[in-house]
Amino acid sequence: MYAFSRSVNSMHSEDIKTLMKQSSGSGLISFAGGMPNNDLFPIHQMDEIYNSLTDDLKKLCFQYGPTSGYPPLIASLNKLLKRKGLPVSTNKILVTTGSLQAISIITQEFVNEGDLILTENPCFVGALSIFETYGAKMVSVPIDKDGIDIEILKDTLAKLEKKPKFLYVTPTFHNPAGITYTDERRSALMQVLSGTGIILIEDDAYGDLYFDEKDSAGIKAMKSYENYDVEVIYTGSFSKILGPGFRLGYMLASPEIHEKAESIKQALDACTSNFMQILANEFLSKGHIEPYLNFLRKEYAERKTILQDSLMRHMPDEISWNEPKGGFYIWLKLPSEMRSSDIFKECLNKGVVFVTGRTFDPHNAKDDRLRLSFSNMPKADIEKGTRILAEVIRESL
Ligand SMILES: Cc1ncc(COP(=O)(O)O)c(C=O)c1O
Repeated sequence: MYAFSRSVNSMHSEDIKTLMKQSSGSGLISFAGGMPNNDLFPIHQMDEIYNSLTDDLKKLCFQYGPTSGYPPLIASLNKLLKRKGLPVSTNKILVTTGSLQAISIITQEFVNEGDLILTENPCFVGALSIFETYGAKMVSVPIDKDGIDIEILKDTLAKLEKKPKFLYVTPTFHNPAGITYTDERRSALMQVLSGTGIILIEDDAYGDLYFDEKDSAGIKAMKSYENYDVEVIYTGSFSKILGPGFRLGYMLASPEIHEKAESIKQALDACTSNFMQILANEFLSKGHIEPYLNFLRKEYAERKTILQDSLMRHMPDEISWNEPKGGFYIWLKLPSEMRSSDIFKECLNKGVVFVTGRTFDPHNAKDDRLRLSFSNMPKADIEKGTRILAEVIRESL
């Protein structure tokens, strides 16, 4: 019996371990994994990029680098984020080992045990697991198809006994809900937070992966909203684009927040892999990213359409969902008496897996939803998997 610390008791970490096993189980049709499909990675372009590096750059790949990130990558990211309208001149980028590390650093920077964190419900389980690890108390606010419920957020804030340290949201192509906040909802959220001193963490892991150019035009990162007195920390990731194996993410924050975050990162891992930063920077600076993103957008749009059409064909009328405009997920609503954990057991017997609704509930309880990911599985399995899932649901009605 070891005297483990309190931070090992994270319910959501256990869920993630199970999820990772299920998403890679052989012989299963898996709607579980929220990762890109292996066949989409730019392996040949990366071969060319590495082979074309000078010997000096190759040597640098193997070396430690500055804690804040490889300077040419920071310069490329600055350009990229500036094009998205983000305030790069008044803020600073910290390159992180995946955006999970950014969320972890921010939590470490602001949260003491027992502090309050506001989250959406449902919420990305990786973030929940971090918040639990640091001993935060989570207070969740539901989202609907247009974003966080503003009236419930106001009520919640009015009733809290102390001020939450931050609100964590994924406003664009939400994991797991697949929704995107409308411009009105984004403005209303900024208005509610304005002047309260509650920081907003905007997780934009999927923002580049829209299905249709015209949908992207109306989406503006919340960090670029002006005229509100709200500190917004923006996080981004290469995981859903170049691949999670890169373990490459970043955060954009005010200089004061950046400085403390850099000290925390120094103690965590000194720096993010120079190897991956140099490869990613070459990919960006040689202009490969836009054509590659266009290829991914088409590919994921096609997968989403196959899943959407299969659901329309097979699901009973009692089941509902929103068709996403980007990202990796469709979030099914079951009749309220049905539990997705029960459906999961039956589906597993028939060789199909997904992620249960309660995994994304900060309180690990609400279970009348399930998450289907269309990003990772072979296209040919989507229809068959949907048919089996629909049969199990129909039998449980
Ligand atoms: C909303 C969201 N944020 C962050 C991440 C983690 O990304 P990274 O691999 O960059 O740590 C994920 C991965 O699933 C995610 O869905």
